[in-house]
Amino acid sequence: MEESGRRRRRLIAALIAAAGAVFFLGRFFRPLTRTAEVRLDVPREPVPADGALVYARARVALVRDGDRIQALDLTCTHLGCTVTVTPTELVCPCHGSRFDRKGKVLEGPAQRPLKQLRLEEREDRWVVTV
Ligand code: FES
Repeated sequence: MEESGRRRRRLIAALIAAAGAVFFLGRFFRPLTRTAEVRLDVPREPVPADGALVYARARVALVRDGDRIQALDLTCTHLGCTVTVTPTELVCPCHGSRFDRKGKVLEGPAQRPLKQLRLEEREDRWVVTV
């Protein structure tokens, strides 16, 4: 009787330890794929030649550079102000950082380029994901 009680306690302890191990290791084995967060989903409009479409609420600009259109995050990489788009470059009104039309830093204090976002043409829509 005493022996079966000991076995039962050991079995319960082993089950609790196994459940703890599964919980602990499960934190490291989450799927690596994450669903993309949709930042912008708007009807598709033509991007003007060497121009841009600016979606201020989403802080996204669709910038045309020749045949290529890219989505840029308008969050300044210095301290997070919203960058404005001019005909020739992107300028941060807070501390004056300047970026070219590809998001590359022309003048600091920002050190890093503007983030390029993923742009998809879905039927008649522009969809930008992060
Ligand atoms: S936040 Fe843009 S330059 Fe400082």
